Order: sequence, then C-alpha cells, then structure tokens
Amino acid sequence: MLQRGSARPHEARFNGTEPHLNISIFGLGYVGAVSLACLGRDGHHVVGVDVDAAKLELIAAGRTPVVEEGMVDLMERVAKSGRLRVTSDARDAVLSTDMSLVCVGTPSASNGSQDQSAIVRLAHEIGVALRDKASPHVIVFRSTLVPGTVEGVLQPIIERESGKRDGDGLHICYQPEFLREGSSIRDYDKPPFTIVGANGEAGLSKLRELFGHLPCAFHSTSIRAAETVKYCCNNFHALKITFANETARLCEAMGVDPFEVMDLVCQDRQLNISPAYLKPGFAFGGSCLPKDLRATLYFAKSHDVELPVLANVLASNRAHVDLAISKVLETGKRNVGMIGLSFKTGTDDLRESPLVTLAEHFIGKGLRLRIHDPEVQLSRLLGANRRFIEQHVPHIAELMRDDLHAVIREAEVIVVGLDHPKVHQALAEVATADQVVIDLVRLRNRDDIAAKVEGLCW
Ligand SMILES: NC(=O)c1ccc[n+]([C@@H]2O[C@H](COP(=O)([O-])OP(=O)(O)OC[C@H]3O[C@@H](n4cnc5c(N)ncnc54)[C@H](O)[C@@H]3O)[C@@H](O)[C@H]2O)c1
Repeated sequence: MLQRGSARPHEARFNGTEPHLNISIFGLGYVGAVSLACLGRDGHHVVGVDVDAAKLELIAAGRTPVVEEGMVDLMERVAKSGRLRVTSDARDAVLSTDMSLVCVGTPSASNGSQDQSAIVRLAHEIGVALRDKASPHVIVFRSTLVPGTVEGVLQPIIERESGKRDGDGLHICYQPEFLREGSSIRDYDKPPFTIVGANGEAGLSKLRELFGHLPCAFHSTSIRAAETVKYCCNNFHALKITFANETARLCEAMGVDPFEVMDLVCQDRQLNISPAYLKPGFAFGGSCLPKDLRATLYFAKSHDVELPVLANVLASNRAHVDLAISKVLETGKRNVGMIGLSFKTGTDDLRESPLVTLAEHFIGKGLRLRIHDPEVQLSRLLGANRRFIEQHVPHIAELMRDDLHAVIREAEVIVVGLDHPKVHQALAEVATADQVVIDLVRLRNRDDIAAKVEGLCW
C-alpha cells in the first residue's frame, strides 16, 4: 500500500491548531534525540526516556546530547516550548503517552551477532507497564533489528508481560529509520520513504498521522519485510561504497581519474543507477560480464591491486547456479525438461550461459535431458557462439526439441529459464500434478499450473 505525502513545511503545518500526539521516545542517541526534537518542534508532546542520566539532564536543560547540525537551536526551542519532559522511568513514560518510539542501540556483539539485550530488557519494562494501562498504546520499534526479532522475540515478551495481544489494547509496528548522522534533521524531514510494518490498521493510521505529511512515499508492509528492507539498504550502501573504492584502486593502477570514471558511471540512469539488474533472478552469463570481470581481476592481480569484492562476484554467481542444480537433484527425478538455453531471454547467444552449465551438469549426472529454446537454432549458430557449444556440450543437438509442449509432457521435472508468455501458457496447458517445475524466471501464473512450482529462492 503506498501513499505520497504533500510537501507542507512543518512550521506552517504545526501552527498550534493541528491535533498533537503524546509520544514517549526510548533511547536518546542520534535517532531518538533527533526524533524527540523534531516531533516536539512539530507540536507533539514528547517524553524522552534513557538509562543515561547525563543525557536526560542535558535534554531537560535544552541542550543536545548529540552533535548534529541544527540540534543546538532546535533542542533549546523545544525545551522552552513546554512540550518536552524527560524521565528514566519506563512505566511513567508508557502510562503518560499514547505511543512509544523505541530507538535504543542494537550494537554488534563480539561474535558479530546483534546485541539485543537493551531492547529485550526494554520490551519487558514496556510490557509490565502496559499491564496497568486501560487505553490503547502504540509501540513503534525504530532500532535496526535482525528480521524476525519484533514478531519472534519482542512481541511475545510484551504480550506475556502485559497480558494483552497485538491488535487488542496494544498495537505493534516496525518503522525503520533512514536518517544519516551529520544530516539527520534534514533526513528526518525528507526521508527516501516511510516504511511501516504492522499487522493491523490502528498503529499504521497513527503513524500516517505522524509521518504521512512528509514529502515521500508511505509504504505499509509486513513487519518482517520492513525489518529486512533496513538491512538490505545498509548492505547496499556498504556494497556501493566498496565498489567505488575498489574502482578507485583499479583506476589508480590504470592511470585514470577515479572521480571522473565514477561520475560518468553514475550518469547512466538507464542501466547503472536504476532498477536494472536489481531484480532477483537466475545467474548472469553471456559473452561480456564473465570475461570482462575475469580480465579486470587479471589486470588487478598483475598490478598488485586487491579487489576482494569483485574477486568474489563470479563465486557468488556460481553459488546461484549450484543452488539451481541442487534444487533439481533434490527432486530425485531423473527425467528433466529444460526450457531456455541461451544466456537470457530474447537471444541465441549461448556463450557462458548459466543454463548451458546446468545442462552440462545434468548430462554429467546421467539424467535424461530434453531442451527447448525457440531462439536457438543450432544449425544457424556461427563463430564463437558455435565454438562454445562444440567445446562445452558437443552433443546438445540431440537434446534440442522444437516442440515445447512435448518437452513439458515428457519430463518429470521442468526447469524454466525462459521468460515468455508462450512458456507460461504451455505450462498451464500441459503440466500435471505429478510434475515439478523449477522456476528460474519468477513465473507470474503459478496458480494456473497444475504441477508443483518451486521458485529458485522465492
Ligand atoms: N545512528 C544512525 O545514524 C542510525 C540511523 C538509522 C538507524 N539507526 C539504528 O537506530 C538505533 C539507535 O541508534 P543510535 O545511533 O541512536 O544509538 P545510540 O547508541 O546513539 O543511542 C542509544 C541510546 O539508547 C539508550 N538506551 C539503552 N538502553 C535503554 C533502555 N533500556 N531504555 C532507554 N534508553 C536506553 C542508550 O543510553 C543510548 O542513549 C540502532 O538500532 C541503530 O542501528 C541508527
């Protein structure tokens, strides 16, 4: 569900006539202190809670506990407004507010796992406090949490301690925070999007009241998806930074200006900075990406340049091929029909096609294999494309079939590597309940197919 907020300036919107909420904010670090200041600025009554008495003292005196642009002035103004108070008493904070935002730290433990001790303790305290609360309370977890933590760890604690259920007297949401230190007030006012995971409407509608006016899309989703999006965003940022830095090391060895190169790379909004190549699917292959990656790595090695991320890309790609192989072998069936052979839909190029690797593997395992690919006419293959096939799967001609329906009908397990409406239609028409389809393309009509359809990792 998606809604887009209007870009109304905060001061104009919160001119004293808008209804305000009573909000407690647990954990007054970067996320909590900035949220406290901005919500107070926006006319809400805020109660700050922390276990650190020094932070509480600073905030009560109108001073900021974190160094952030704009926070000195903002904290002073909000403290003077009379809409802010602080406490170390979780019970007091829960009982005197309608909503709690939980922003406590979730640092790394020494083994790399997430240390959730602070948030788990707090869940107990909030649950106990809620036992004595008659009116409904919304709990919004904003700390970054390993997917599954809210529903698997925190919610059961709160429900057990409070004697209430999510959706009945208490409403649990997860709303990841996307602000960046250094520009946190600006990011608070203009986030990339607002994402709220919830299992009911009540908490969601309160958060729409609070954040729906922001100039960005408002998405509601499952709690687990919201937790996962936060991790995915941070992992992606880390990957991008590392890519730019590996590129810079490579550029230095090549005697090229890395800033100019990355600037030009970023100007391609069609293929580079775009959703292209960011959809889950099957492994990459073809005549360009694998060979160019190998050449890059060879060049780097010969110039003593370390590129650990790029060096592991082909291994990760191979892991994806291996997953498809094991999915097919795990069915225990020995009669395989493959739909698609070229490296992507719409081409007859077989060079380094991961589907050819699959075929090679199945042949090597002694499986009975039949292949259909409408684009691939072996008699018409020329040059490097022909040589590749002669070298890797020389007997492939015997396995190729023109009749798609017959390939489906005669197989026990059907591997779909070609994304075409005709394939979807043929599967719906021919496949039977005793067959298994291994879906490498994300078939959109799974419900129309009588066979058991297993996505590669979806
Ligand atoms: N810092 C960022 O830029 C940023 C951005 C997005 C998300 N996050 C996530 O938000 C969360 C908070 O990050 P942060 O940087 O603000 O952390 P922080 O370490 O700066 O602050 C956490 C605060 O929680 C307090 N606290 C601990 N236990 C408490 C309890 N039981 N009750 C009340 N307060 C308690 C601590 O005293 C501390 O003041 C983390 O999960 C982090 O991963 C951080």
